Amino acid sequence: MIKLFKNASQIVSVDTEGKNVKRGLDANNLTTIENHSIVIENEILKDFIPNSKIFSLNFDEEIDIADKIILPGLVECHTHTAFTGSRANEFRMKLKGKSYEEIAEAGGGINATVKAVRNASFEELLKTIRPRIDYFISQGITTLEIKSGYGLSYYDEIKLLQVIKKLNSIYKINIVATFLGAHTYPPEYKNDHVKYINIIKNELLPFISKNKLANFCDAFCEKTAFSAEEIDDIFTSAERNGLKLRLHTEQFNNIGGLQTALKHEALSVDHLEVLNNDEIIKLSKSNTVAVLLPGVSFFLNYGYAPARKLIDNNAIIALATDYNPGSSHIANLTFIMSLAAIKMNMTIEETISAVTINAANALGMQNSIGSLEIGKKADMAIFNTSEYSDIVYSVEKNLNCMTVKNGEIIYNNLG
Ligand code: NIG
Ligand code: FE
Repeated sequence: MIKLFKNASQIVSVDTEGKNVKRGLDANNLTTIENHSIVIENEILKDFIPNSKIFSLNFDEEIDIADKIILPGLVECHTHTAFTGSRANEFRMKLKGKSYEEIAEAGGGINATVKAVRNASFEELLKTIRPRIDYFISQGITTLEIKSGYGLSYYDEIKLLQVIKKLNSIYKINIVATFLGAHTYPPEYKNDHVKYINIIKNELLPFISKNKLANFCDAFCEKTAFSAEEIDDIFTSAERNGLKLRLHTEQFNNIGGLQTALKHEALSVDHLEVLNNDEIIKLSKSNTVAVLLPGVSFFLNYGYAPARKLIDNNAIIALATDYNPGSSHIANLTFIMSLAAIKMNMTIEETISAVTINAANALGMQNSIGSLEIGKKADMAIFNTSEYSDIVYSVEKNLNCMTVKNGEIIYNNLG
């Protein structure tokens, strides 16, 4: 089956010349191809041909995208989409001046959502989460990461991972699961950390690995959650079980998470709002992706991560929504790109690299997705504009009009 997506006014290929990453200022080099069409054979991008040449060739199917622009399918590499219940009450408290940590210490925060998730059945969770996936797809997202982390018991963490697995089988996009059992201590183990860590190490990780329920193991290094030493222990066990690592770290307090993540060569370190200068240099020299989440700084109204310093020091930067009910109740990835440009001084091009090839790196999937290069999967986001800067300039408006996964149209609002 050979398909042609014809008459693009511009293709923003995010070409990497085979490197499959955009470090530092290289994130500004997007590579644009004007007035071309894309040939796809069996899910794979085969060729770019000038619009003026397509009349002389034959294809099994031709899709006319009428002067729109094509970007690589967007990669959303950090979300907590698998939740239920509302924390609007906490939002009210925050508006009155209570901090995220104060709310967590008072029994709210992550554990409020844990309670709601434990009370929800598999079917209820599935029903609640599905419209959220549709919303991501409508934005041009073709790969979506979802974390567990709101079950925090053997039964409920597995339940969440099975919901994510089911979602991956229902939808055509890749839904990639991350195990976040070390999100915080559940109330029953508040005073017995060793016991909870043993459940993670001896029960959850072996089961998850054996049943292929997650690709990654994540954790939260924070005063209200896990220490760097505890994470070192959990990561050692996760590695033995064949899981790749990621870490929520340096969000509110700098307690050594970054060192632990770098020691274990984690795929990504996420948040980094309170990263210090030495750590910026260390991280920038590594292959670990810095996943920045400006929606959290906006939603909780505190400082932004040092994106500019990281990029200027040659780090690999990705951006994500961190969509969750407590710290970033925001599921709009292009809004996050706009926030990154306005609040973290990233260029429009850097924000595009950050939600395509570099986000693919955060998931270890950079060899098959994240850029429009011959031989890669034909994942595309088609935008109803003639100029790619409009995507970021339009702030909250969804300009995506077609989402294509493995060469197949899975969302079409082309009109
Ligand atoms: O990425 N930092 C920890 N976890 C989430 C928040 C989850 C929640 O508040 O429910 C985050 O910000
Ligand atoms: Fe998060």
